[in-house]
Amino acid sequence: MKQREQESSKLWGGRFKEKTSSLVEQFTQSLDHDRRLYAQDIAGSKAHAAMLGRQGVLTAEEAGVIISGLEQIRMEIESGIFVWSPELEDVHMNIEKRLTEIVGPVGQKLHTGRSRNDQVALDFRLFVRESLLLWQKEIKVLVQAILGQAQKNREAILPGYTHLQPAQPVSLAQHLLAYAQMLKRDHERAEDALKRVSVSPLGAAALAGTTYPLDPGTVAGELGLEKVFANSMDAVSDRDFALEGLFVSSLIMTHLSRLSEEIIIWSNPGFGFILLPDAYSTGSSIMPQKKNPDVAELVRGKTGSVFGRLVSLLTTMKALPLTYNRDMQEDKGPYFEAHDTVVSSLRVMSGMVEAMEFDKKAMVKALKKGFLNATEMADYLTSRGMPFRQAHHVTGEAVAFAEKKGVGLEDLALEDLKSFSDLVDKDIYDVLDYGQAVKRRNTPGGTGPESVSVQMAGISSWLNESA
Ligand code: ARG
Repeated sequence: MKQREQESSKLWGGRFKEKTSSLVEQFTQSLDHDRRLYAQDIAGSKAHAAMLGRQGVLTAEEAGVIISGLEQIRMEIESGIFVWSPELEDVHMNIEKRLTEIVGPVGQKLHTGRSRNDQVALDFRLFVRESLLLWQKEIKVLVQAILGQAQKNREAILPGYTHLQPAQPVSLAQHLLAYAQMLKRDHERAEDALKRVSVSPLGAAALAGTTYPLDPGTVAGELGLEKVFANSMDAVSDRDFALEGLFVSSLIMTHLSRLSEEIIIWSNPGFGFILLPDAYSTGSSIMPQKKNPDVAELVRGKTGSVFGRLVSLLTTMKALPLTYNRDMQEDKGPYFEAHDTVVSSLRVMSGMVEAMEFDKKAMVKALKKGFLNATEMADYLTSRGMPFRQAHHVTGEAVAFAEKKGVGLEDLALEDLKSFSDLVDKDIYDVLDYGQAVKRRNTPGGTGPESVSVQMAGISSWLNESA
């Protein structure tokens, strides 16, 4: 076959007479980001080549040569000897060019029935899939650390807050397990997103499908994907799967950020509920007494940048007509950055939660100071026939009285308590006991020990499920 001398080194250079400006090459290349997709790209190309071989589009021998060439490229990349060329634009063309160098002209047959549009959508879907699976795994590690602390500190009680004002006593386990529930839902959200991520777009080609007798179903199966695209134009042009991943990552970070906020507050000496492990805090260059919760602060801080990445891709996508537009190349950077932040944040939180120590005495002290048994006294009076509104008022008076004396309600003498209502008897002291206040709340999901045991068992059997 006669072939004209190629003017351009570009794989798409046939119709071009002049060289691309180097400014444009730099501006349009995506290699800085997408070389991270090399493993997915090679896996996708191998599955595509094998399918072309099965369908008779390539001979079995051609397919075999291409597949072993692709394997060699993977080894070159992983051993660091692969030479990346930004002027070849992206990971796809770098690999394809090298393939032809290794296996000769047969390498040029790999792209039969395929476009970079369905190729990049496939690579990215494979990445997002692995990313969601990794988050799920790391979420379980963190929940395990939370459950471990809840089990270790079963008896500990502390103030529960509303408006960050002391409200009612709760068990530490109940407080911690609230985060276990949030993270469990994040895990479920990732599971749900996976259904829509695990769809193969390969076979959509540039936008309209192809004339070659492809078999996208077997390609999908080989790559561990559950389904095949239903519409070629949709397949190459939507990035909702990445947006869902970014939304899941934003919620994970929201939950981690709230937990970080608790850690920051609880480690403040004004609260003193937790002692930050040395390995997870830092000092000040000038104030020798300082032990700062920088890790928690950074998780809280990085949450903003993950949200930003979600908004960034939403904005990129919002006005794009069908089908592929180069704008979409701006999809991978934000996703990779969010992915890395979620993984490192989950890991550092797991380590920190596991190493945290709780100061139970400081928690009890805070209970006293906050009159956290006031609701108990009001309920006590109500159970003896006083209308709740009146009991609320009477208890408020008792609180003001105790506050003036600088003591808790439970420290007042019986006569003093009786002076607010003659319904008071000496059994009120049992009711005012903080531990009892927690123990009595055994309604399902409540803070009482029986309810907490049920919750722990639920979380622990979920952790033992395979997924
Ligand atoms: N680097 C491109 C991207 O990330 C690959 C797809 C290019 N397709 C095209 N028609 N120029 O989106």
